[in-house]
Parts: sequence; C-alpha cells; structure tokens
Amino acid sequence: MSQEHTSRTTNATVEAQYEEYLMPIWKELNVPVRRADGWTVEDFDGNEYLDVFSGISVTNVGHGNEAVVEAAKEQLDEFVHGCTYVHPHQPAAELGEKLAEVTPGDLQKSFFCNSGTEAVEGAIKLARKYTGNKEVLALEMSFHGRTLGSLALTGNKAYKSDMAPTINDVAHVAPPYAYRCQLCDGGPCSCACAEDVERVIDTHTADDLAAVVVEPVMGEGGIIVPPEGWLSRVQEIAHDHGALLIVDEVQSGYGRTGELWASDHFDVVPDIMPQAKGIANGLPLGAFTARPEIADAFESGDHLSTFGGNPVACAAALATIEELQGGIVDDARERGAWLSDRLADLEAYDVVGETRGLGLMQGVELVDPSDTGPMDVAPAPDPKLAKHVGHHLREAGIVIGVGGFHSNVLRFQPPLAIPRDELERTVAAIEDALDDWD
Ligand SMILES: Cc1ncc(COP(=O)(O)O)c(C=O)c1O
Repeated sequence: MSQEHTSRTTNATVEAQYEEYLMPIWKELNVPVRRADGWTVEDFDGNEYLDVFSGISVTNVGHGNEAVVEAAKEQLDEFVHGCTYVHPHQPAAELGEKLAEVTPGDLQKSFFCNSGTEAVEGAIKLARKYTGNKEVLALEMSFHGRTLGSLALTGNKAYKSDMAPTINDVAHVAPPYAYRCQLCDGGPCSCACAEDVERVIDTHTADDLAAVVVEPVMGEGGIIVPPEGWLSRVQEIAHDHGALLIVDEVQSGYGRTGELWASDHFDVVPDIMPQAKGIANGLPLGAFTARPEIADAFESGDHLSTFGGNPVACAAALATIEELQGGIVDDARERGAWLSDRLADLEAYDVVGETRGLGLMQGVELVDPSDTGPMDVAPAPDPKLAKHVGHHLREAGIVIGVGGFHSNVLRFQPPLAIPRDELERTVAAIEDALDDWD
C-alpha cells in the first residue's frame, strides 16, 4: 500500500470495506489495526491501544518481535514455497527437530499444517489410523475449531447453529469446571468429572474409541483450569479403553500458561499434541506432534497440506521458540503469578464470581448475584456486564477478550513480556467499569 493511500485510510474506510466485501461473521468489529508493536496496537485514526488479548493468544513474544520478523524476512529472500511434503526444506526439518526437543516427554514426530483446526483434525486422523478405532470423546464447552471435523468435537452449540456436522462418532463429557460443577454435590472437588469419562464411554460409545480430546486449560470455554489429577486420570481412562489422549495446546501452548506447555503443569505427556496460534507469533502455522510409534501409523498419502509447514512460517516459529526459551516464558510465569494475586482482589465485588488461570491465561467470571443461577450451583452468568466492561476498557484504550461459554468471562491473554504496570492499568480499568455498573 502506498504511503499516500495509507494516510487517507481511516477506521471508517476499513470498516466500510469489511461491511461491503467480507462475509459478516463478526458480532461487533474490534479496533482496526494499522500497525502493532510489542503490546500496543494502533488504529487508522492514530489511536493507540494496549493489547491484552494478543489477537486471541497468538503474539506471545510481542507484536513485531524483531527476531521473528528478521527470521521471516531472511527466509522470504531465500524462497517462499517449496511444498513441505514434496520438496524437503531446512526450516521444516529444523522445526521438526526443535519440536522433538521442546515438546513433553517422548513426543518426537510432527506434521505441519496451517491452523489449529487442521492440527486437531490431523491428530484425530492419526489416532484413528493408529488405534484402528473411530469414536472420539470431547468435552462439553470445549472449542477445537470450526471446520466440520473439529466443529463436531466443539462442545458449544453457539458455534454450530444451522451448520452442525452430521458426524456421529463424537460423544461429549462434562468439563472440569469446578466453579459450576454439578457432579461433586456442592462438596470439595473429588475430580468426579474425570470419573464421568468412564460413564460416558460406557453409555455413549460402542467400544470403538480412538481418542479423548481435551484442552488442558479451556480457552474459549472461559479460561477453565482443571483440578489436580484430572488430566492424568483422563489419560489413564483413555488408555484403559485402547484410546489415545489428544491434548489440544493450540491456545494454551507456547508459553501462555507460564510453562512452555500447559500439559507441563499437570505432568502429563500427551499421546498427540496439536499446536497453532503462538507457534510462529502470527504467521499461519499449525502442527501436531506424536510419539514415533504413533506417528509412524501414517503411511504415504494418508495426509497432506499444500501450504502446511511453509518455510517462512517455520523460520518464524524457530525464532519464536528461541525467544520463548530466552526468558519470555519466565516473564509469563512471573507476571502471571502477580496478575493472579491482583485479580483475586476483584473477588471483593459481588459481581465477580471467580478469578482463575495459569500464567498469562487468566479469566474473570462475571455474575449476577441476584440470580441463583442454573441448578443453584453458582450465581447466573452476566454477559451484559462483561460486555459493559469490554466497552469501558476499549474507551480507556485497552483491548481485552470477552468470551467464555456464557460470554461472561474477561480474558487476559497478553503478549507475555507485557510490563506489570500495564497489567495494573488494565485491572484498575476493570475496577472503574465495575464501580460504574449498577
Ligand atoms: C483450543 C483450540 N483449538 C483449536 C482452535 C482452532 O484454531 P484455528 O482458529 O487456528 O483453526 C482454537 C482457536 O481458538 C482453540 O482455542
């Protein structure tokens, strides 16, 4: 775009083009982006915003990270496309080796694609090929993507209306959502939701289970952290039934939770691990990584992607991982611990039901205390208040995520090196917004 054209473009220009020429899939357009740097995005009208959401948990090492941009530029000058699975190239080879080094346990062989949904669907194909079974168990309130296979796994009808796939091989089980748990009889958590996996397998499947698919921390569901022991118990149950555990680290991986992988918090080595989002700090790339004996179930021609493992994206991913290993995951751990304590202060407000999270994947669940809520387990979700807070923050120059299964959770998922005072500014703006609500 020429400089002259850039200077004439306003937010209104871009928004009008979106309305006219892009399919209307948004509820409400967010801040148009002209440029972004670190944890700041700038719109076409010259306004700057603090970005506490990273384009849905993607720019973990910061917008415009110099090392990542340089690595991508260098590769652009060499060649842009080689079709990874026709012409072997060094960026994919090196990234494969790097992932074997940094993924948990003995995960070793990767397949590269372009997105999270492809990574999840490829993982399902691999699990089916390896086990010879077909059925898949997923969590209610989960999110795994929007193409038909991953949409079948996604446990949220809001994403499915009028387009639900007719794939019958998926059953759903209760999520590990302690705040609204209906399984532990209001008592302390006994991890009953993990045991329920056994019941659902017995009642809803036909002894043909290929995989149980879970997010180790549920992102779109509302930043839901499972109780201690849940992930390993689910893996044990899956294995008892001859199935694999697919741990979807698309949103929780690449340092987001203060460890490179959320699975690390739970000492679980997934059988197959889909990744995307933060992998290349914004360049389109996805991957799934498996133990060699599982990965080797794929035979020639079983799976392919024309653009998957694009060399520019792989070069960016290698630089991203180096940045993460150079101290940015430590930043996420340290700032996340501080933020978690600071958010706990918000629980003094009766409209704040719960604050929770790991590292810099933190959520604030907003409720209506005057309504006892479904099954009297916790006060009713308040999506209107969440929307109010989101708008208030945007007015204050801050972009935060507003989501969750009930659309009532504020989502902190900023670039991982964001300074503490910017996090404090955000929490203070939330307090203002809550004070402003009646
Ligand atoms: C856990 C999880 N899996 C899969 C996906 C799908 O990723 P993509 O949008 O890149 O297809 C997402 C996206 O939000 C996600 O959060």
